[in-house]
Amino acid sequence: MRIPEELIEKIKDENDIVDVISENIKLKRSGRNYLGLCPFHNEKSPSFSVSSDKQIYKCFGCGETGNVVTFIMKYRNLSYIESIKYLGERININVDLENKDPRKDRKSRLYEVSIESARYFFNNLQKQKYAKEYVVRRGISETTIRKFGLGFSLNSWDSLLKFLRIRGYKEQDIFDAGLIIKKEKGGFYDRFRNRIIFPVFDYKGKVIGFGGRVLDDSKPKYLNSPETLIFSKGTNLYGLNFAIKNSNTRTFIIVEGYMDCISLHQYGITNVVASLGTALTVNQAKLLKRYADKVIISYDADLAGQMATIRGLEILKNTGFDVRVLTVPQGKDPDEYIRSNGKEAFINLIDKALPLIDYRLTRAKQGIDFNNGEMLIKYTKEVTEILKSLDSVEKDVYIKKISEDTGVKEQALYDLLNNEINKISVNNGMIKNEESYNVKLYVEPAYLKSERSILKLMLSKEDSNLVSKNVNKDDFILDSHKKIYDLIIEYRDKVSEDIYKYIEARCDDVESSKEWISIIELELLDEEVDKQKLIKDYLNNIKKYRLEESKKEIMQKIKEYETKGMIEESVKWAQRLIELQKEIGRC
Ligand code: GTP
Ligand code: MN
Repeated sequence: MRIPEELIEKIKDENDIVDVISENIKLKRSGRNYLGLCPFHNEKSPSFSVSSDKQIYKCFGCGETGNVVTFIMKYRNLSYIESIKYLGERININVDLENKDPRKDRKSRLYEVSIESARYFFNNLQKQKYAKEYVVRRGISETTIRKFGLGFSLNSWDSLLKFLRIRGYKEQDIFDAGLIIKKEKGGFYDRFRNRIIFPVFDYKGKVIGFGGRVLDDSKPKYLNSPETLIFSKGTNLYGLNFAIKNSNTRTFIIVEGYMDCISLHQYGITNVVASLGTALTVNQAKLLKRYADKVIISYDADLAGQMATIRGLEILKNTGFDVRVLTVPQGKDPDEYIRSNGKEAFINLIDKALPLIDYRLTRAKQGIDFNNGEMLIKYTKEVTEILKSLDSVEKDVYIKKISEDTGVKEQALYDLLNNEINKISVNNGMIKNEESYNVKLYVEPAYLKSERSILKLMLSKEDSNLVSKNVNKDDFILDSHKKIYDLIIEYRDKVSEDIYKYIEARCDDVESSKEWISIIELELLDEEVDKQKLIKDYLNNIKKYRLEESKKEIMQKIKEYETKGMIEESVKWAQRLIELQKEIGRC
């Protein structure tokens, strides 16, 4: 489904980039441009620049570039189409792309069965004294029961099925909604029996599934709806619909369980969602990124909880969150803790939540006896592994602390750390400029610029053919450059349009849209040079990069063979390395 190009144009024109970005981050006027802290990497002094004239942004710290649509895609984690819709809504244009999809009718039937069942369960709870008593005993108020729509499934094999049948719902739909289970001999029975029911809502507040808890110690403690057309556990977060309502913070707390989430909400801590026992998924992190920048993770302190925390932390960090870890003392879960200690005490824990690094350092320390030399060495190695990604001020702070803790001299820790750092490849696009107060400047690898330059040449009428004669799609390393190459060629049959508009409308993912802006912005060298030779130089740069990459791989291999003592293999690869080196020299 394609949105008409004119509509995209209109939406872009009417959403001024400075306005849109200002709604999300603080910008200050600076000459012709606006400057702010980059939302795409962590920084303390602003290097994120927004140009009102050009309607683009660029970060000199991390290299992020784009237009207003790219910004929304990246910042809100939305697809291209969703971003256009978002920006459309902002200026009161309804981008209606709902097409007649038969799955949609099926989906809406499942939503209907689900909400009807939720109502049924809710009424059951109000009528069943012993179930209600259980909920009350766990400290849940009537208001909370209503807000979260808590319910109860009767101790019966078919009460829900009967209830829904009488109301005209088809067995197939009830089954597809995950509410009944097929018997081997034919027929169906209720999935949830004699359980407290927690309806699961999507972020808009629609009921999409259920969780059911036993009233005693029997197993399994919880039963959940299976994956259905409308219920996908890995892309949903329990409580998100409530958390984002009237939310005035971009900090969210993630807990494990239904009860933790409900309890914290009841005590007035409402920026809480639950991942429901399963490990946090990338999609859940992305969903959350729409509403939050900082996440406090508060899982159980038991080993399983700790492991889930570590995995969750990685995912959250990679999604760009500032992550903290909240540890509930005395082995309690958040629900138990807030019920016995109150809201203030829990807020205290929130304030004391450890930054990622501190949490990892604390964990590394567990069970280590600093008087045991072997353990101490292992510990310091682990610690340097944790510290190596920090900036130098942070390193200083932590090294001082660790040195005090362990009695290992600070210098020794620095040496260990520097060894560690020299081991990692320096070619990740960042260099450190020592003189300028540790400001990191983004330096692009030469091949990137060469690929862009080739495409830029190709955009001009005079040079387009020359380029396509000399350059193949596969000469490009970046996929988005391949895509743009194809688009330029494709455009040639459609001369009526403006090539820039044609391509921009089709660069509909973050990468290609970013690259497209960079290509437009790129200024080529003067007109007089020999274009043929220029193209050859560019291609050479790309080739050189490819060779350097293989060189790195081979060096890695050689190292591996050496440590394994496989001398013959390592000599063989060393030979290859020499050849490769010669070839690089010829570039
Ligand atoms: P309470 O014991 O009632 O306080 O619930 P809780 O939310 O504290 O549960 P717990 O910390 O034991 O588990 C966290 C979450 O993991 C639960 O909310 C469930 O979503 C999930 N979970 C726990 N036990 C089971 C189980 O037996 N089966 C399934 N599928 N999920 C479970
Ligand atoms: Mn609990």
